[in-house]
Amino acid sequence: MSNQPIGVFDSGLGGLTAVKQLREIMPHENIIYFGDTGRVPYGNRSVETIKRYASQDARFLLSKNVKMVIAACGTVSSTATELGEELPVPYINVIAPTAKAAVEATKNGRIGVIGTRATISAGAYKKEIEKLDAGIRVFQKDCPLFVPIVEEGFFGTDDPIASLTVERYLGILKEQKVDTIILGCTHYPILKPVIGEYVGPDVKLIDSGKETARFAASILAEKSLLNDSEQPGECGFFVSDRTESFSRIATIFLRSNIGENVSRVDIHNY
Ligand code: DGL
Repeated sequence: MSNQPIGVFDSGLGGLTAVKQLREIMPHENIIYFGDTGRVPYGNRSVETIKRYASQDARFLLSKNVKMVIAACGTVSSTATELGEELPVPYINVIAPTAKAAVEATKNGRIGVIGTRATISAGAYKKEIEKLDAGIRVFQKDCPLFVPIVEEGFFGTDDPIASLTVERYLGILKEQKVDTIILGCTHYPILKPVIGEYVGPDVKLIDSGKETARFAASILAEKSLLNDSEQPGECGFFVSDRTESFSRIATIFLRSNIGENVSRVDIHNY
């Protein structure tokens, strides 16, 4: 048993969707979250840069004595694939648990994967799905506008910007008759109602944050690292820059206000 915190990081605040899931599944765990708000977005950057940033983010979490590091970011998970080898604690990212959930969900063997440009060009989800079941066909689509749309708050089912963008990007997946879509980016679960309305109720939408939180719980249990405290866990939030929009954007993902409980970190020191 361990009362050390779980470390979670993301390129920005989108990873708070995973924190929300972790808190629901493991309410007694303490969590340290780092969002690289000073360097977000990662999704349009080169592989070398993403890897360097991810190593720094993980090293910051290690400095907080975490018992596990979770990359909530689809972009980091897809590109910095060797990050776990650098770390002295268990490391998990979103790819394996999300791909497994999609393979279990599909009935017709046709899965769509959506993510940032870097995620789609790395093809990590596709490779993992094909490793699990070589007979499955995977259709990938990058959706770079989804991140700013969510951060601007244009995600209501009655918002024409959201509906038009979803239609433009996901038309190809509809044509390919996928019955399962991996929401391979931290921000996309926020667009789930709009995406669901467009693709219809028969298409299953797999949320990477939720699957990864479940996977984290199973790994901690397996390694006897769960927190045995009866008290509700505490969360510490750290960011590399604090802008005016911080509070508003954090609330979109966490559905609760983290107010002043946030510290700024100079991530270049890690
Ligand atoms: N967190 C990123 C992801 O899940 C989205 C934002 C970004 O591009 O950095 O891919």
